[in-house]
Amino acid sequence: MVTTAIPYVNGNPHLGHAIDYLLADALSRYHSILGENVRFLTGTDEHGSKIYKKSLESGKDIQDFVDEKAAVFQKFITDLGVEYTSNIRTSSEKHKNLCQKIWQKLNDHIYQGRYEGWYCEGCEGYISQKEYDDNGGICPDHQKPYEKLAEDNYYLRMADFKDKIKTAIENDGLLILPNKRKKEFLNLLADIPDVSISRPKDKVMWGVSVPDDDSQVMYVWIDALSNYLTQIGYPDENIEGIWPPDVQIVGKDILRFHAGIWPAMLLGLGLELPKVLLTHGFVTVDGQKMSKSIGNVVDPYEVINKHGCEAFRHYFLRHASTTEDADFSWDKFEASYLELANVIGNLVQRLANLCMKNDIDGRKKATDLDLDFMVMMNECDLSHAFDYAWEKAQKINKRIDEEKPWAVLKEDENAGKKLLAELADEVMKMALHVKPFLPETSNKIEAIFGTDKISVPEAPLFPKD
Ligand code: MSP
Repeated sequence: MVTTAIPYVNGNPHLGHAIDYLLADALSRYHSILGENVRFLTGTDEHGSKIYKKSLESGKDIQDFVDEKAAVFQKFITDLGVEYTSNIRTSSEKHKNLCQKIWQKLNDHIYQGRYEGWYCEGCEGYISQKEYDDNGGICPDHQKPYEKLAEDNYYLRMADFKDKIKTAIENDGLLILPNKRKKEFLNLLADIPDVSISRPKDKVMWGVSVPDDDSQVMYVWIDALSNYLTQIGYPDENIEGIWPPDVQIVGKDILRFHAGIWPAMLLGLGLELPKVLLTHGFVTVDGQKMSKSIGNVVDPYEVINKHGCEAFRHYFLRHASTTEDADFSWDKFEASYLELANVIGNLVQRLANLCMKNDIDGRKKATDLDLDFMVMMNECDLSHAFDYAWEKAQKINKRIDEEKPWAVLKEDENAGKKLLAELADEVMKMALHVKPFLPETSNKIEAIFGTDKISVPEAPLFPKD
């Protein structure tokens, strides 16, 4: 089972959200190739004051507002060529109902209290005095001053779980990737206080009501993190054999929630911790943070519409590091598209052409992945695994240049045909290895080289303007 973070629906999808979806999709497709029955969970995070305020600005009824935005996110996922198995909305009755049951199951670890301190609405996060001081009172991610809160609420007793979480992370029972994020988080964990897990309804009215206390709604992160469980029907349904998730994909800004409160909730529920938290970096544009105030926000649809979603996937899954910040620039994107056209596009075109002229029979689809590739995929090192698959295409191109099948054919027709068939088999292998990243391209290649008689595609895979 692989999961993505569920984005807030206060705005439209951006490049950062795409990273979550693409990483999860590549992993999910890889495990499907291995014959596993993969669950791919995604969804939308629809509660909290930030979203409520946006709906007020839009003049729309809050439920209508989130309905519209959730549909935009669902379309976005599909437009990225991503195939999920389940997509939950936190404003759905199913989620709210199960979320309340989860809260009740955590009762022994919850107590009433009062929170006096700082809050960042952009992060929907409580901010310690140290963080406040370190950042001069302004959230570095949202460029907004922290808000002062003084309110009655409920707390989750982190002290009940801290030692177990620490051990699980240190021993990699809960593996945080990359390793530097694990170290960063372990430093944070040492000082983690009990966490406020509710807000008064008179301040935040858009949320899941706390069971048996109508004056409070759940803190939006408790509600949101529960999605990974409510999606599979917990606690009403038996999740044995499904739980725990193999990989949970998160951005670096939300690792602390997924490595802190989330494991605490799971331990409180008596459930196993996820196996891996794969943490990706941020998307920057021309080396700068992408932000509305800088005015450098790139609309993902502009990128998708330029050369199609496979070119988008190629850029962000191969040229962007899986775990570091990923820089986007139009120049780099155009160069990466040319690479696609020159390496994979040309290979398919010229080899299919040679095979067609020489009447080569369709080849069988490849089924076996290389061990080296699998090691990288198993370690969630996706960009390098993609490079590995890419090198296969480069090697076949090189072989064609060096072994010159057209010359071999002239000398010895049978040997020439044998060579073409062998190269076409190699292309099938390449198609299998790029499938997790470029599923549509992979399917097209398998169709071109897998029909009775290999023939040239009607249109090039990656047309140049
Ligand atoms: N709603 C929470 C997640 C709850 S998961 C139980 C949230 N939403 S978000 O919309 O702010 O972010 C969703 C995902 O997008 C997160 O993984 C986040 O790290 C990622 N990104 C948001 N901005 C980003 C960039 N600029 N670049 C890359 N990813 C970033 O957090």
